[in-house]
Amino acid sequence: MSPALREAAPERPDVWVGATAMAEDVLLESTSAKFMQAYYTLLHLHRVAVTVVVVVPDGVTDLDEDCANTVATIINTNKPTLFAEFGRMYRLEGKVVLITGASAGIGEATAREFAAAGAHVILTARREEKLKALAQELSSKYPSVTVHTVGLDVQDREAVQRALASLPANLQEVDVLVNNAGMVVGVDKLLDVDPKGIDQMFNTNVYGLMYVIQAVVPGMKARNRGHVINIGSVSGKQVYSGGGIYCATKHAVDAITRTLHLELVDTAVRVTEINPGLVNTEFSTVRFSGDKAKADNVYKGMNPLTGQDVAEIIVFAASRPDHVNIADLLVFPVNQADSRTVHRA
Ligand SMILES: NC(=O)c1ccc[n+]([C@@H]2O[C@H](COP(=O)([O-])OP(=O)(O)OC[C@H]3O[C@@H](n4cnc5c(N)ncnc54)[C@H](OP(=O)(O)O)[C@@H]3O)[C@@H](O)[C@H]2O)c1
Repeated sequence: MSPALREAAPERPDVWVGATAMAEDVLLESTSAKFMQAYYTLLHLHRVAVTVVVVVPDGVTDLDEDCANTVATIINTNKPTLFAEFGRMYRLEGKVVLITGASAGIGEATAREFAAAGAHVILTARREEKLKALAQELSSKYPSVTVHTVGLDVQDREAVQRALASLPANLQEVDVLVNNAGMVVGVDKLLDVDPKGIDQMFNTNVYGLMYVIQAVVPGMKARNRGHVINIGSVSGKQVYSGGGIYCATKHAVDAITRTLHLELVDTAVRVTEINPGLVNTEFSTVRFSGDKAKADNVYKGMNPLTGQDVAEIIVFAASRPDHVNIADLLVFPVNQADSRTVHRA
């Protein structure tokens, strides 16, 4: 609820109008056609970047034209205040964003954030049914946004090349690549780690990331426009016992990202690395082969980051002005200070 908006409506203190970016719930307790018309006009004007939340007092079932006009006037009068705050979102409107690993966790939340900001999203992961469900949700919530799904295992170089070469014509020019697909297997020490796990971690986190870069970034370079956002980890900055291979893959992501930045410095293509600490997603469940109790233990007694927390940072980086490049960002939950230093209640 915006105090500025509430103050702007002294003559109608019984109607509050607030606006929030990407609010989940729209509370409409009126059936007034006039009112609905004003509401939809506003949504149309501002696409999906702003959801208007209107709270009408109990007992009011119909609102007159005067009220509908008041709603519209309040919003319009306060546009500078409101939309300065959310203006960054407009930079993403109509952009084409490709997200790997969009079926869960950080990638899924990132897809929601970009779609809410009016960007067209290409969702990729192996679990196509999850992508389809997400696409359905986003398409019905944001009709002006194109949502395209691609079932894809990033470990398969030819499949990556094929899939990205056959994107629909209107989505071929990717503006933002969120290279997020990644995973970890187990907590075995280096002398015991299963070679299959080594392959899977390197094939996904390093080779897969490189295959996608090689399929997408040449186009960005040729257009002299684009943004590569690689999801690294605190494990790409530090190491810990029991995470040697995962840390090695994320150190590789760090090296690749920094090198790519150097190699694209004479272009307008931006390169960003976002390195989270503990995030409560499916990540630990995958690590412990589906053992939810073990996974939950990772976050016991502390308040981890959520996929949404990281998604907001990704969208923040992507929505900076074109000349601003957030190169490297390390983000922890408040009670984590490095890979292993976590305060638990
Ligand atoms: N969670 C954390 O604490 C944490 C911390 C630092 C960094 N990270 C990094 O953040 C990224 C996202 O992880 P998350 O926490 O969101 O984990 P998550 O919930 O397990 O999501 C991982 C995503 O990657 C996809 N994926 C895995 N292997 C894939 C493959 N071979 N091909 C295509 N997609 C694949 C998964 O989709 P499918 O299974 O459907 O393919 C899923 O959508 C990873 O790079 C991870 O290393 C996570």
